[in-house]
Amino acid sequence: MDQLAVGCPVHRYPTDGARSLGLDPVLDNALKNAQPVRLEYPHGGECWLVTGYNDVRTVYSSKTFSRSGNAPRITASPLFAGGLATMDDAAHLKVRRIVTAELNKRMGSIRTSAESIMTDLLSPLREGVGIDYVADVAKPFSIRVLGKLLGIPVEDDEKLIGWVSALLADDFAPNAEANAESAVKDMGRYVMELVTARGENLGDDLVSDFIRHDGLSYLDVVTVAFGLIIAGFESTAHMLSKMVFQLLIRPDLWTVLTESPDRIPSAVDELLRTISLGGGEAIPWLVREPVSLGGVDMAAGDYVMPSTGAANRDGLVFDDPDQIVFGRSQKQHLTFGYGTSYCLGSQVAKVELEVGLGLLVREYPGLRLTTAPESIGWPAGSAVWQLAELPVALP
Ligand code: HEM
Repeated sequence: MDQLAVGCPVHRYPTDGARSLGLDPVLDNALKNAQPVRLEYPHGGECWLVTGYNDVRTVYSSKTFSRSGNAPRITASPLFAGGLATMDDAAHLKVRRIVTAELNKRMGSIRTSAESIMTDLLSPLREGVGIDYVADVAKPFSIRVLGKLLGIPVEDDEKLIGWVSALLADDFAPNAEANAESAVKDMGRYVMELVTARGENLGDDLVSDFIRHDGLSYLDVVTVAFGLIIAGFESTAHMLSKMVFQLLIRPDLWTVLTESPDRIPSAVDELLRTISLGGGEAIPWLVREPVSLGGVDMAAGDYVMPSTGAANRDGLVFDDPDQIVFGRSQKQHLTFGYGTSYCLGSQVAKVELEVGLGLLVREYPGLRLTTAPESIGWPAGSAVWQLAELPVALP
């Protein structure tokens, strides 16, 4: 750890600390010590780190902060350039409104298709077969729900899974950058061809709905479809696997849900609060004008990373923040972000997580891990923290 002239610690980020269900240790320490910290990013640039609940909401909602600019990043590719996550203000809002309205119309059918896809994927368990929940269930489930929504054939799942994984890589393998570049090109071409084909032959899918909408250009439709796949696949697949892992290593929580499946929605919410998507990471914002936040004087042109994962464990807002308590009445967690960048797919994600956990506790209450929890690895190399595997079976 170096020291800046002002005495503020600078940490290389992401750290190489152990990955887990919880926070990156650097973010956790900064939260617990309420200490200003700067993060040095792997592809160049530094960020202020903000961890307090109210400060994180301020970054997400104040006009002082912007998504434009060339923000420091942990992924090998400038993943979000030109996409929704780099848009601000009216242009962003316009696209968001349309996407939200179109998605809302489809929530019922998304739940129905999620139930049917998950029922099929879990069925080998009934034959006494042990499965790897990550590879055999959560990943195919998440990509198929998106594929069904967007009108993408199942045969293309593996291609999409490969592209998204290359785009979310945060490792320094010699070929990571080249892989990410070709994934952007290949997936970009794939999505453009999909939108063009759908434009010539409209169907009953979300891409066709977008094309029918006067408010979206061809480029908007491509950008949004691309964004939904990138933002929606690994996030939900790994969050679901990590939730199942968390419940199986806490039999008391598992029993609460097998006995009262109606508590699934509140359990999903609390697990979303406590399980970090990527160690507590969020996308950095550009500081537009000088501002003082979290005890730090930031200059125009600085960048700041509002850690949503840390904010979710702010003891000033959540009692006993590290404890999992289903049905908390306290404030809304920030796992889906906040304000104008709030996750566009949060409702889809919640449906998937509710269906995923719901079918397990109702239909497979005897499910168990078939290996010691400590023996399950947490491979490095992706911005989305994930389990190497989750071997499960019925007794
Ligand atoms: C558990 C699963 C998920 C988590 C934890 C999650 C989390 C987030 C967060 C934190 C953001 C805001 C990022 C930022 O700008 O700081 C975001 C944005 C976004 N998410 Fe999700 N997400 C999940 C699933 C999904 C799904 C299933 C979809 C699509 C169906 C989706 C689509 C999007 C899109 C398009 C954005 C960009 C919104 C914008 O910038 O206007 N997400 N998500």
